[in-house]
Amino acid sequence: MNSILRAENLCKNYPLPKGSLRVFENLNFELEKGGFVAVMGSSGVGKTTLLNLLGILDRPTHGKIFLEGEDVFSKAEKEKALIRNTKIGFIFQFYHLLPEFTALENVSFPLLIKGIEKAEAKKKALQLLKDVYLEEKAPMRPAQLSGGEQQRVAIARALINDPMLLLADEPTGNLDWRTGKMILNLIRDLHQKKDLSSIIVTHNEKVAQFCQKIYIMENGQLKLLSSQ
Ligand SMILES: Nc1ncnc2c1ncn2[C@@H]1O[C@H](COP(=O)(O)OP(=O)(O)OP(=O)(O)O)[C@@H](O)[C@H]1O
Ligand SMILES: [Mg+2]
Repeated sequence: MNSILRAENLCKNYPLPKGSLRVFENLNFELEKGGFVAVMGSSGVGKTTLLNLLGILDRPTHGKIFLEGEDVFSKAEKEKALIRNTKIGFIFQFYHLLPEFTALENVSFPLLIKGIEKAEAKKKALQLLKDVYLEEKAPMRPAQLSGGEQQRVAIARALINDPMLLLADEPTGNLDWRTGKMILNLIRDLHQKKDLSSIIVTHNEKVAQFCQKIYIMENGQLKLLSSQ
């Protein structure tokens, strides 16, 4: 398999006031380049925990994660942050947009942090808003947008740095099915158009059916349920 992402013997414990909670131990997973996979599983099994590790938002207790063959947790903080910001795009259930910023500012923000010139950042953000069919909503603030529109802004923001890996945690969990389907079609189109490798965490079997492979998280392991 030509894998882009590989998790090897991942273990995650959370410290508790008394002892610790072991979410998983010796979890192994591989995502092939161009893969579009779903991760399902009951509430509390550790799906978000896993996504946070794969996205370098948190570190494993043990085990390794290789992104394009590079052992990410062997790197210094600065390098890890660079990998996270340039190679990985995140989409969350509750969008996580900045309320005081317009749609355009939310999308261009990651570029401005990187020190990209304002005019250039604006141009790229507008193109991404166009990709998610929201160009005309560029001056609106999140509160002036519907849930589906806010999620589309969040998708545009996730893709602004041209990531190779897209991680989505319940991207349609807060939307009605019709809107959710539209969001999934959009994610799938952008996945293809932008050569992404993507992982979608979901509770919803109908959402998972949009993906090439479906994994289920159970007893601290990821099991392949189906593959198209
Ligand atoms: N920061 C934390 N500190 C301590 N325990 C945590 C922390 N984050 C998550 N947990 C616990 O780890 C387990 C896995 O949580 P996680 O959020 O990964 O589950 P999930 O599969 O994403 O669930 P859901 O489907 O409800 O989103 C749960 O028992 C949760 O209570
Ligand atoms: Mg979760």
